[in-house]
Amino acid sequence: MKILVIGSGGREHALIWRLAQDSMNHTLFCAPGNAGTAELAQNVGIAADDIAGLVSWAKENRPDLTVVGPEVPLCLGVADAFAAEGLRVFGPCKAAAQMEGSKSFSKSVMTAAGVPTARAEIYTKSDEAIRALDNFSLPVVIKADGLAAGKGVIIAQTREEAESAIRSMLDGGIFGAAGAEVLIETFLDGEEASILALIDGEHAVLLPASQDHKRVFDGDQGPNTGGMGAYSPAPVVTESMLPVIKETVILPVVNELKKRGITYRGVLYAGLMIGRDGSINVLEFNVRFGDPETQVVLPRIAGDLAPIFEACIDGNLTEEMVKIRPEAAATVVVAAGGYPGSYRKGIPITGLDAAAQMADTIVFHAGTKMSDGGVVSSGGRILAVSALGSDLRTAVNRAYEAVGKIGIEGSHYRKDIAHRAFER
Ligand code: AMP
Ligand code: GLY
Repeated sequence: MKILVIGSGGREHALIWRLAQDSMNHTLFCAPGNAGTAELAQNVGIAADDIAGLVSWAKENRPDLTVVGPEVPLCLGVADAFAAEGLRVFGPCKAAAQMEGSKSFSKSVMTAAGVPTARAEIYTKSDEAIRALDNFSLPVVIKADGLAAGKGVIIAQTREEAESAIRSMLDGGIFGAAGAEVLIETFLDGEEASILALIDGEHAVLLPASQDHKRVFDGDQGPNTGGMGAYSPAPVVTESMLPVIKETVILPVVNELKKRGITYRGVLYAGLMIGRDGSINVLEFNVRFGDPETQVVLPRIAGDLAPIFEACIDGNLTEEMVKIRPEAAATVVVAAGGYPGSYRKGIPITGLDAAAQMADTIVFHAGTKMSDGGVVSSGGRILAVSALGSDLRTAVNRAYEAVGKIGIEGSHYRKDIAHRAFER
């Protein structure tokens, strides 16, 4: 098959890499891709949010399948635009993508569907929002409604912090239109986990649970990032929880959307908070694969991947189609010095071949590009180094051994990936 993957991060390299393992020979394209995708696919120089450019490339090149990585093109309606041209695309339509694009929409769907989630109130005027803080205890969570590249959630420990977050979003416009509406939400305590569910409009198949590491420093300290590493399975989600999550979280959302005339096809990512008592609450939904969760979940899928995506488009997805390997997987993100603050680009990367030669290890590129002298960094999260192992400890050790072979001046990575699993 001729397959186009949209996006340029570690998630998209993982998608390209996994599709290249399929038993049929695909011809792969990645728009815009990175230095890693370029080894397995032809990179197409069109930005992931250039919908018109992508459609015009696809009309000319007629891919049999397009897989959308990031949320921005989905929220801009890339799936609708491709479908209108008779092109097959794996990813939800614009109306369904509001599950990530609008936290107030997502909350209303969850409430109507009876999905367990934090209580929230929604405001557009700062004085009303600030008054409403009386209805919440501390800490309290303040969220911008729209897409804010992962920065739109503030956990306020004090009333002053909460008020200043509300003012900066509603009066200061720090997130622009994305912050024109805010949610004030009850703080949930517990351990987070990510569930990626494949959905074909009606049926859902849950992929194994994973856990991301959002804070930049070891011990979950420091500012939030796009994700510094991940592992799967995540033991906080027990085997018996998966069917519960399917029945009480995933399917109710699919059915509630259907009631509203919206068909969900693609991946639905549920960010969950698992309480100490085993309670399950939804923190947020995303309408795409997670990054870096994809770098640990896709290596665990056995068999062919493209037919699974096609079944989601055609409405005939079954549990039997999705086979999971028993090995555990871990990924370590290597970031540029200074990330998630300001950082330098164009730093040379050495040791990629030595790392790639290790068994059961895959170096996924995220912010990289080719330059005359070789591969250089082009982003904050530079690589995600994944490994499989017979158990989580083996996978984590392998990933770190591979990271040790890579040289990127000034870079940093977390040394404690999967610590919560090991502390259990
Ligand atoms: P989001 O941008 O929606 O993914 O949220 C970012 C992060 O904020 C989540 O991964 C959680 O760590 C945290 N968060 C969001 N909502 C809550 C909540 N109600 N209680 C506690 N933490 C939350
Ligand atoms: N790893 C978090 C996300 O993809 O949103």
